[in-house]
Formats: sequence, structure tokens, C-alpha cells
Amino acid sequence: MSRSPSAPGPLAGRRILLIVGGGIAAYKALDLIRRLRDRGAAVRPLLTESAQEFITPLAAASLAGERAHTDLFDRESEAEIGHIRLARDADAVVVAPATANMMARMATGHAPDLAATVLLATTLPILIAPAMNVRMWLHPATQRNLATLKGDGVAVVGPNEGAMAEAEFGPGRLAEPHEIADALEAMLVQRSEPRDFGFLAGREVPKKLAGRHVLVTSGPTHEAIDPVRYLANRSSGRQGHAVAAAAAAAGARVTLVSGPVTIPDPAGVAVVRVESARAMLAAVEAALPADLAVFAAAVGDWRPAETRDAKIKKDGHAPAPLALVENPDILATISARAEGRPPLVVGFAAETDAVLDNARKKIARKGCDLIVANDVSAEGGVMGGSENTVHLVARDGSVETWPKLDKEEVGRRLVARFAALLEARRG
Ligand SMILES: Cc1cc2nc3c(=O)[nH]c(=O)nc-3n(C[C@H](O)[C@H](O)[C@H](O)COP(=O)(O)O)c2cc1C
Repeated sequence: MSRSPSAPGPLAGRRILLIVGGGIAAYKALDLIRRLRDRGAAVRPLLTESAQEFITPLAAASLAGERAHTDLFDRESEAEIGHIRLARDADAVVVAPATANMMARMATGHAPDLAATVLLATTLPILIAPAMNVRMWLHPATQRNLATLKGDGVAVVGPNEGAMAEAEFGPGRLAEPHEIADALEAMLVQRSEPRDFGFLAGREVPKKLAGRHVLVTSGPTHEAIDPVRYLANRSSGRQGHAVAAAAAAAGARVTLVSGPVTIPDPAGVAVVRVESARAMLAAVEAALPADLAVFAAAVGDWRPAETRDAKIKKDGHAPAPLALVENPDILATISARAEGRPPLVVGFAAETDAVLDNARKKIARKGCDLIVANDVSAEGGVMGGSENTVHLVARDGSVETWPKLDKEEVGRRLVARFAALLEARRG
């Protein structure tokens, strides 16, 4: 998501997984979605089965601008994102309203549905906003669960005290949406790191890029012909985004300069959106210095010599030929910098033929340290697809070919390799 200038607070640019439980206050979750978005956050809603008795997934999705997840065994949803990625692809999880039942599931590690499974699988910071009948809230079982959850590092907001249904009075009302948003901001300021679970020690991705700044470009560029037309290419941004996500998981501060793409932003990454090659170069230069620069974007080689201010009309004549001029070469420009050249500069080469020969020529011509070459001919389905076969071409011309892997795995392996190269240079 882009950082909204109107929302510079701690929620700007953050991705929040909002789990809505089946309580009478579920309708307030809709207002919460709106408020979180007003503060610059992107919200991914997840409704329990009971929550859908109170509000519809459609209402939540419409307000969030993202599909609402509902079912652990929904094949379409599982293929698209998967419950484990739901548990990872965010900056924080909010449960509002958190029912007594949900708190019990969380406290005991019982995972019969999508919400409870995600909550068990996540190490993201969690904020719960309980809401229930006062007797349910004060019941020793709920209070035991509350103590367990706090001990597990879960943050809690509310419940508030007040008049409740069935003419009762006491604690049990859902905290107001603005109070939940405030509590979430406070939680994110205090701890944006995964909760510290002793049992995960040694199992998390090693933070091999901690303290490093990694700059990644991704996606295509759009070169305007007139206000409605542009020259573009088929790049989806999936490989570049996967590298950025893997670098962030390895502890780096990551700046992702992205051309126009339809895929979501990786979690924990600062995203700068651009359209043209010239804007991409300017954003890259503004983001320096960096310890590692990975140029995975498919930058247009040419742009129209002239961009018209008004739409070009079809007036019965043959169209004028489109004159093109060359775009700046971002990889060569940054590789050649006398000052502020990142210690490790990696280029991507998308080739349709003579992949390795062209990659070897490219590394010599551009002056970068490593080329990740891939075959993007139509048969391979790499452009826009989910898998990639890459060849690592070094300056001495040596080549290492990796098996066909999904782009996320390619991203992780590349980042592990880059981290090792940086370490070797330091040593
Ligand atoms: C009308 C109605 C209102 C309810 N309100 C609440 C509530 O505010 N808090 C709560 O903990 N449970 C409430 N329940 C009970 C929950 O819906 C029930 O425990 C359910 O299993 C919760 O499922 P979930 O935790 O998966 O959302 C209510 C049930 C009904 C029928």
C-alpha cells in the first residue's frame, strides 16, 4: 500500500489482519475497518462463521477494499493466499470483537476454524478487543483465559463498562473503534517485531541482513503516450516483490521501488510507487545509500519521444508513427556511480533467446556484480507466472543454474546468497 500523506501516524502503510468474532458488537468492526483505513492502514478482514450471522463478508470486503476470508477449507482462498501466509502477511492481527469462545480457543491452542488456526500460526503482534455479556466476561474461565493470553504477549483493549443487553450493567462492551485504533497504534510503536516465543528460537529465518539497507526495484514501467495510453510490458512484479519480502524477513530495512502492479505489497517493506523509467531512476537515487541493490524491475528500454497532453484522436488518417527515445539505464547508471555505489549491485536479465550469452554480455556492459538471468519466452510462462528457473551469472562468466522453483523460494534463496556475498566482502 502507498503511504498516505494525510495519515503519517504509526498505522500509515501498515497491513492489519482483522479477525471478526461472532458477537453482537460485530457490526462495529465495520466502523473499525473504516477508521483503520482512514489512518493509512490496509485491512484484510477474516470473519468467523458466527460473525457471518451478524455481518456479511461482502460488507467487510467492500469497506476494506479486499476480499474477506471466511473458510479454512476454501480451495480458492487457500490457493490464492493460504492460511499460513494469512498468518504472516501483515504487520499485526486485531481480533474485534473477541468472543469468549475465541479467547478460549486462543488460550488453549484449539484450532478448529480459519481464525483460530491463523491465530495459532502467527507470531505477529496480536491485539484483542473482547466483548461479551458481563457474566461471561467475569466468569473465572474467561478470566483465566485472559491471564493466559496476556502471559503469551497478547495485547488487550477493553472491554468497557456500561449498560448491556438484558438490562445488565458492567464490563463487557466492545471498546470503541477509535480506542481500538489507538491501542493498535500504541502496540505497533512498542513492538513491531514478532512476539518472543522461546520455542521458536533458532527456527525463525536467520536475520542475516540485520542492519542492512536493501533497495529492490520490481514490476514493469508505464511510458505515457497520452493521458490514456502507455507502453508497458508483461512483468507482474512477483519476483522482485518476493526478493523484497525475503530481504525483510532476513532482517533488512527494505525500500521497494515498484512500477504499476496488482499484487499486494510485501509486509514490513517501505514501498515507493512509480510509473515511468525516469521516475524509477529518481526514486532509486533518492533511496540510496544502500548495502545491496537488486534491480528486478522490467524497465522499458524506450519511451515515446513526446507525451501528448490530450488524448490522440482517431481522425480518419493513418496514425503518425510513434517515435521512441531511449530510457535511462538504471542498472548501468547505479553500477557506474563513483560515489555511493552500493557494495553489491544485482541486475536481472529477462531474455527470450541465448539467455546465458546475453546475460554474460549484459554483466560486462552494465558493470554490475551479478546477473540473475531467466528465460521469459512465452513457452516458459515466467512473465506473470508463479515459477521461475534462474541462472546466476557472475562477473567471471561462471554460471549456476537453479531448478524450477516458485518465485517466493527463488527470492529466499537469492537473498541467502546475497547475504553470504555481503558477508564475504566484509570479512
Ligand atoms: C445474538 C447473539 C449474540 C452473541 N453475542 C456474543 C458476544 O457479544 N460475545 C460473545 O463472546 N459471544 C456472543 N455470542 C455467542 C457466540 O456467537 C458463540 O459463542 C460463538 O460460538 C462464537 O464463535 P466465534 O468465536 O467463532 O466467533 C452471541 C450469540 C448470539 C446468538
